[in-house]
Amino acid sequence: MTDLLSVRDLEVNYHTERGVVRALDGVSLAIGQGEVVGLVGESGCGKSTLARAILGVLPAPASEVVTGTILFAGQNLLDLSSVEVGRRIRSRRIAFIPQDPFGSLNPLFTIGQQMTDLMQWKSPVAPDKPGRGWPTLLAPYPAQRKAQDRQAILDMLESVQIPEPAQVLSKLPHELSGGQRQRIVIAMALLPQPELIIADEPTTALDVTIQAQILRLLHREVKRRGVSVLFTTHDLGTAWEICDRVVVMYAGQEVEVAPNEAFFAAPRHPYTAKLLQSLPRADGVAQDIPGEIPSLIAPPAGCRFNPRCEHASAPCRTTRPPTVGGDHKVRCYHPVAQPLAQLRWGGAPSYGAEGS
Ligand SMILES: Nc1ncnc2c1ncn2[C@@H]1O[C@H](COP(=O)(O)OP(=O)(O)O)[C@@H](O)[C@H]1O
Ligand code: SF4
Ligand SMILES: [Mg+2]
Repeated sequence: MTDLLSVRDLEVNYHTERGVVRALDGVSLAIGQGEVVGLVGESGCGKSTLARAILGVLPAPASEVVTGTILFAGQNLLDLSSVEVGRRIRSRRIAFIPQDPFGSLNPLFTIGQQMTDLMQWKSPVAPDKPGRGWPTLLAPYPAQRKAQDRQAILDMLESVQIPEPAQVLSKLPHELSGGQRQRIVIAMALLPQPELIIADEPTTALDVTIQAQILRLLHREVKRRGVSVLFTTHDLGTAWEICDRVVVMYAGQEVEVAPNEAFFAAPRHPYTAKLLQSLPRADGVAQDIPGEIPSLIAPPAGCRFNPRCEHASAPCRTTRPPTVGGDHKVRCYHPVAQPLAQLRWGGAPSYGAEGS
């Protein structure tokens, strides 16, 4: 599979009053054409930082990209200015679905105004700047294009199963339910026909029953269109449900990368194996991982998981482990060898509502 996105050795710091937060420490991952990749990890492990780095929206001036590359369709996005990324890439070739749909919808404008505005500037035929002599607000938007765009918007609202699309266009965001708002945001991500969608915990803020519906909808629509997705989640069940490949992050590093089935059958990193074992079993028994996630201001030397790892040996405490493996990669000196069923827990994680 050809890589659409390839992140290599990405290091991102935040400068804070308490010190330098080493939020991403040499992260690498790739996403193939049409592939749905799940970026899984506990809160604070760096998922949103990676999402923001790819989208070119890391907070300034607190953040610093220390090193690394973000190759998208063969171009290093870190070589482009933020203005260029904004005009040519973001919301156009790489779309974003945030956790909270209010984050990307303007409360003061109707859904119709916001979707039309998106199409004026980000549709595949839109210019990437207003053109000489035209201030943005007065830029030309030919009537014929506007009519075609309106039809594309209505068709897309049908695809994301919004009832009575024409009426919804005249509503303000707060007049819709949370699930409907997230459907609108998904529609707005898909409308510019992006190659990649970054979905940062897109269902976390929703009720469990709605979560399952939105996940299924997103999965169906991206697969139908061949769009690649980077899907961040703290929930292994969600990753199991919709991802082709899983990337597990721990404390600012990717520690395991594997195809979905191989990952859930036989996780190889001790942290990942513990994480899967920590899911509640049918008998309700859950096994916590002892210890705490380390501070990213003063992370442990060697392997960042070593203070919590029962397999840790001397090199684990002093020297960073290399990443080993082909299709199933793991950053560890002593990868787990048994399949998960023998470890303790067997079977797929229970997920969401309706057993789906
Ligand atoms: N704007 C910021 N300023 C300082 N530290 C930040 C900022 N954003 C995130 N961090 C820190 O970076 C680390 C990774 O955070 P984040 O990428 O949000 O993780 P996740 O999305 O996995 O919860 C955390 O330690 C967090 O506190
Ligand atoms: S490198 Fe060592 S400490 Fe880290 S997960 Fe592997 S065995 Fe455990
Ligand atoms: Mg986050």
